[in-house]
Amino acid sequence: MSAVRSGSGVGVRGTAPMEEDDMSLRWGILGTGGIARKMVAAARARGGEVAAVGSGDPARAAAFAEEHGIARHHGRHHDLLARPEDVDVVYVATTNDRHHADALACIEAGVPVLVEKPFTLDLEQAEEVAAAARTAGVFCMEAMWMRFQPAFLEVERRIAAGHIGEPLLVQADFGIAATPDTDRRWFARELGGGALLDVGVYPLTFATGLLGTPERAFALGELADSGVDATVAVAMRHGGGRLSSWSCSFVADTGVEATVSGAEGSLRVHGPFHHAGRLTLRQGSTVVEEHDLQGTEAGFEYEVDEVVRCLEDGRTESPRMPLALSLTTLRWLDELRRQVGVTYPHED
Ligand SMILES: NC(=O)c1ccc[n+]([C@@H]2O[C@H](COP(=O)([O-])OP(=O)(O)OC[C@H]3O[C@@H](n4cnc5c(N)ncnc54)[C@H](OP(=O)(O)O)[C@@H]3O)[C@@H](O)[C@H]2O)c1
Repeated sequence: MSAVRSGSGVGVRGTAPMEEDDMSLRWGILGTGGIARKMVAAARARGGEVAAVGSGDPARAAAFAEEHGIARHHGRHHDLLARPEDVDVVYVATTNDRHHADALACIEAGVPVLVEKPFTLDLEQAEEVAAAARTAGVFCMEAMWMRFQPAFLEVERRIAAGHIGEPLLVQADFGIAATPDTDRRWFARELGGGALLDVGVYPLTFATGLLGTPERAFALGELADSGVDATVAVAMRHGGGRLSSWSCSFVADTGVEATVSGAEGSLRVHGPFHHAGRLTLRQGSTVVEEHDLQGTEAGFEYEVDEVVRCLEDGRTESPRMPLALSLTTLRWLDELRRQVGVTYPHED
């Protein structure tokens, strides 16, 4: 039996490497929405077991467990953590407003946790979660699956190989025409809705990853009747002559594309850029190469692989998606929200 399986305490769960024969993680899932479904499939595709699901509603928990063949279900989210030794990791797939409390509950129970984006609603909450995880020595990672995608890794590889010269400019858009119903999370202020936190997090993380930490930002936004941001256009300076220009929207249906450019050319990451299947390398307007990654683009499995690797190695943070990167993202999301005038109920 491995240290993780033995459930012998917070420090052990956080720091001891798993043994080779224990690679099959037992996942607990908090949330019963669309993304929770996808993670059930991804965890199983990588040999994991989905051991339990937690919901805020007993009937929803039971229905989800029945549909997906999950042995344990709980009608109150944190009841899933009552026997922490029965899960190896929890995936937080609840609405944005819950991520902070759900992540803290996992950490307090000594259970490694993968937290959906946005990591939390603001920097203060994110710092609290990061500090708790670091103090307890419990693994914690934002589920920013884009950073593990083959296309994103290929962009980094080509930049490092000098295919476009030094990256100087990122342009990106992430717009979907979301359901206007305020009972659903997209426009609901009390659920942490709004385009910036939900989809703007992708171009922001994309630009930060390729150009470095932002230094300055300007944003213009159009707000929905509910008070959350419907569309935001952003310009950022990343230092060293590097700029990004990106937008996000819950009312405009964009191509969800990204381009990174340098003096020698540009790399276009075809939509959806956060899990792309194709890259185009251009010099001027001439296409130099099309790189097809079709078949790899669906992948929540790549972030599952990272969780498995980190827990096997006894890591408490992912080197590829460290907590510091989530904190940077939240810091700038706070600033962009301030500029466009969006607040959440806990800030009133
Ligand atoms: N990584 C990605 O690509 C990706 C994609 C989409 C979303 N996300 C993130 O994942 C989180 C969840 O998003 P989601 O798309 O899964 O949201 P969703 O489908 O709206 O589900 C969110 C929550 O709504 C409740 N719910 C689900 N079906 C319901 C129904 N028929 N009636 C009433 N309530 C219902 C569930 O609450 P209970 O927990 O109480 O059962 C569920 O956890 C968000 O933080 C989002 O930002 C990530």
